[in-house]
Amino acid sequence: MAKELRIGLVGYGFMGRTHTNGYKRVNDFFPELEYRPVLQAVCGRTEEKAKEFADQWQFNSYETDWRKLVARDDIDAIDIVTPNDTHAEIAIAAAEAGKMVLCEKPLARTAEESQPMVDAVEKAGVANTVWYNYRRIPAVTLAKQIVDSGKLGKIFHYRANFLQDWTISEDLPQGGAALWRLDAKAAGSGVTGDLLAHCIDTAIWLNGSIKDVSATTETFIKERMHTQTGKVEKVEIDDACLFHCHFENGSLGLFESTRYARGHKALYTFEINGEHASIRWDLHDLNRLEFFDHSDDSKVRGWRSVHVTDGDQPYMDHWWVPGLSIGYEHSFVHQVADFLKSLEEGTSCEPTFRTALETAKVCDAVLKSAAGRCWQDV
Ligand SMILES: NC(=O)c1ccc[n+]([C@@H]2O[C@H](COP(=O)([O-])OP(=O)(O)OC[C@H]3O[C@@H](n4cnc5c(N)ncnc54)[C@H](O)[C@@H]3O)[C@@H](O)[C@H]2O)c1
Repeated sequence: MAKELRIGLVGYGFMGRTHTNGYKRVNDFFPELEYRPVLQAVCGRTEEKAKEFADQWQFNSYETDWRKLVARDDIDAIDIVTPNDTHAEIAIAAAEAGKMVLCEKPLARTAEESQPMVDAVEKAGVANTVWYNYRRIPAVTLAKQIVDSGKLGKIFHYRANFLQDWTISEDLPQGGAALWRLDAKAAGSGVTGDLLAHCIDTAIWLNGSIKDVSATTETFIKERMHTQTGKVEKVEIDDACLFHCHFENGSLGLFESTRYARGHKALYTFEINGEHASIRWDLHDLNRLEFFDHSDDSKVRGWRSVHVTDGDQPYMDHWWVPGLSIGYEHSFVHQVADFLKSLEEGTSCEPTFRTALETAKVCDAVLKSAAGRCWQDV
């Protein structure tokens, strides 16, 4: 007997669409799931736009104040897809109202702001998860299975990049719709919380906790027009961030992110070098996992490019026939599927708020290290 999970979505931008697509598709491709998401209500501040989104994506209703949404008896789970400065207040209110909470990353602007969110969901005992969706790209999940199998042996290096180029123009304003990422008050930080947070979440998942960091950040354009005040204001986000670190397992990490790498749109890559084998992955070719195994016959030894589309590879038995690719949006379908499965099984859906707090602490340490020009413990 199917159980309904009535979703209240706060925000209807980029992530509003990826999540809604996930809710709509999940039962078609994961028919074994007991729970069925119901698009009960979407919330946005502008009535016309909220209604338009509700009509286009077939939500049953809409609200213009998230407090009303949280107070509704016909909502089981609140999904937060708004800018980072709003996550904490909405999540805490939702947990206090007894709702499950799904929250976009980063959990909040800082670890200090994130901690009460963890406390609130744990005190209320409500299911919670954070959308670090890259974990659920099949090639990345396969990387996790390979690392956990011990095939890499002792790990020496972890390397990750997240490169974009969309903020190079000096004419780009900061703040407001679509550009809130350039406004530190809304975003908390620049590339560190926005892009490196993804790299850090994946890194901790694959390679364990980060002990300490040494970072450099740069703000290349110091002042930009603010769309809300109409004035030229100081830019307080990090446009670029480089850091290296020690992991608890003794390996070294090297991370770089910028929005000033001309030619790169969303180049998220990582590589792990172990004693016996290495793996690397590239978001621009997301179905492939590259694998080097030193135990192969030396005459044919080399990097293998594994097309992760076969039925015995993670999630792929739910999609097409072997050899046919899936895309970015499927990682969100997988996160919804795993969340629903966790409800059935009474387990938690990783990363939980508590897990995501660790990433927030690393981000804080990175920014503190850069500001103080020193090594910083996490
Ligand atoms: N997992 C990922 O890969 C990924 C990718 C992009 C963004 N994100 C995260 O998702 C969140 C949203 O980012 P986005 O790219 O969708 O942003 P966006 O600007 O496209 O959309 C934000 C939405 O929030 C709405 N909003 C803002 N304040 C609101 C309020 N007080 N009440 C109701 N609605 C409000 C806006 O109107 C808009 O609909 C951010 O936290 C961001 O870091 C995650």
